[in-house]
Amino acid sequence: MALVTVAELAQRAAQGGYAVGAFNLNNMEILQAVIEAAEEERSPVILQASQGGLKYAGIDYIVAMARVAAERASVPVALNLDHGTSFEQAMQCIRKGFSAVMVDGSMLEFEDNVALVRRVTDVAHAVGVSVEAELGKIGGTEDDIVVAEKDAMMTDPDEAAEFVERAKPDLLAVAIGTAHGVYKGEPRLDFDRLLAIKGKVSIPLVLHGASGVPDDAIRRACKLGITKINIDTELRVAFSSAVRDTLVSNPKEIDPRKILGPAREAMKRVVKEKMRLFGCSGKA
Ligand code: 13P
Repeated sequence: MALVTVAELAQRAAQGGYAVGAFNLNNMEILQAVIEAAEEERSPVILQASQGGLKYAGIDYIVAMARVAAERASVPVALNLDHGTSFEQAMQCIRKGFSAVMVDGSMLEFEDNVALVRRVTDVAHAVGVSVEAELGKIGGTEDDIVVAEKDAMMTDPDEAAEFVERAKPDLLAVAIGTAHGVYKGEPRLDFDRLLAIKGKVSIPLVLHGASGVPDDAIRRACKLGITKINIDTELRVAFSSAVRDTLVSNPKEIDPRKILGPAREAMKRVVKEKMRLFGCSGKA
């Protein structure tokens, strides 16, 4: 199958009352872990690359890998830019073959965020690419984007309504208490806020920073209208723990396949668990 848009997957998820998992992609092992999990779970899936991921792997490799995966897969696959911060970056991804882009203007003033996202949606929609935007500021570290705890800012429901109306994104990432990276304490999600946003905004909502959020909170978020959930950190943890275990138990190992193979399996297990938790298993 060809790559599908994130909007298409999220709209279907909104109707079905579940969320689609979006997993950050930096290399072939992560890609294979995610795709194999999606196939085995019969789940739609979103592959995404951050600016840091594109810098690391190269945009052509990311697009080529995702295309091969989508063409071979029997489940729907989308390729999304994660936290793009400029018009130029979004255009480059669209031209190279991404089926979706996220433009993160959350560090800008409200009016500038509206202008940036609107500029991207005008072009993206003309060529059938969907757009995710962010309002409020999600705390923590996602590759090269760092938001200190004191600068994190919850999404205001009224502002969200105005933002969506004027900037015209297909999906909106909301700040309701999650953060990117490893949590220090247990995250507390503001479900009243999510409910209020949902009441004022009709497009699908996205939860970032979902690694480490308790399962119950994730289930509740899905019930209240979250239709896309981003996971990066838990894949990193699974990957690095597996590599560490292999090398500690067999310090003489030099074969990359024997070092990375178990890491790929460990990530696949995480992805499958998340797909069941998000309710997207069996929805392909
Ligand atoms: P985590 O790293 O907390 O899983 O968040 C991922 C994310 O939101 C990517 O945009």
